[in-house]
Amino acid sequence: MIAEIDVPSHTQALALAYPEFFCETAHLDGLAPCTGIQKGVKKRYLVCPAKEPMYKFYDAVIKELVAIFPSKDIHLGGDEAPTTPWESCPSCAKQRKELSLTDAKQHMAYFLGRMAELVKANGREPLFWYELDDSLYREGETVFAWYAQCSDDAVVAAQKKNLKLVLAPSPHCYLDFPQIEGQRRYNWMPTATLRDFYQLKPEKYEGKAEIRGTHCCLWTERVPTLEHALYQSFTCAMASAEVGWSQPARMSYDNFVQRVKAQADAYAKRSGYSLDRTKENQQALNQLYPKS
Ligand code: ACM
Ligand code: ZN
Repeated sequence: MIAEIDVPSHTQALALAYPEFFCETAHLDGLAPCTGIQKGVKKRYLVCPAKEPMYKFYDAVIKELVAIFPSKDIHLGGDEAPTTPWESCPSCAKQRKELSLTDAKQHMAYFLGRMAELVKANGREPLFWYELDDSLYREGETVFAWYAQCSDDAVVAAQKKNLKLVLAPSPHCYLDFPQIEGQRRYNWMPTATLRDFYQLKPEKYEGKAEIRGTHCCLWTERVPTLEHALYQSFTCAMASAEVGWSQPARMSYDNFVQRVKAQADAYAKRSGYSLDRTKENQQALNQLYPKS
């Protein structure tokens, strides 16, 4: 099991508890200790890379993770972090000058590098979400390609920078997306069907870059119950596992569907309701969702 913390963005709860780790220009009012971006709070909050006590805090967090998780890797996130707050912050500007960093992008590379060093100093290896820019990472690091169209781009970056890749492109790997057409969705979410999960083709990249594996994500901002989590995960996670572990020549979607059906009763017993992707099942799920 690998732990993920996410820096410098996705830190809304931290901003509420430790506003001193954030830029002077950050407007922290209206925050609440929940995940994601709230209605009416349009900005992303990034920790300020110029606040030294923030690194001390994360060192303590990493030590705590090391004590709990035996994995050799710790995921540091690094995704969805537009640097706008760093551009207007006096502390950030002072640090850029001191370190001869010419822009906020270089500042991000510096920040992620320091966080990577913290992980390494604690005997572990850092992982990152790949953010479409190889300059943010250091030779040999592992990045997760998560954008819809990003795997090809990530392979090019991997070749350039000797990065290792985990493939997690959202249309084939995101378990929180709706899984049948017509399912209630949260504005930006596309549909990712069972077949879409089965159609990730890691073999496309064989010999081009080091692919450490495939990965699927179940973000739970929109998954209110354990039953819902199980519903979203099975059977798509089974498809994802088969993609990650099978020789392409031996794969068959029709055959996979038959084998999944044979498991349906066992999963129904475990999750409390049928796992079939039907409109009726979706109705039941809609009862659980708060409407957004
Ligand atoms: C991600 O979905 N922001 C990695
Ligand atoms: Zn700052």
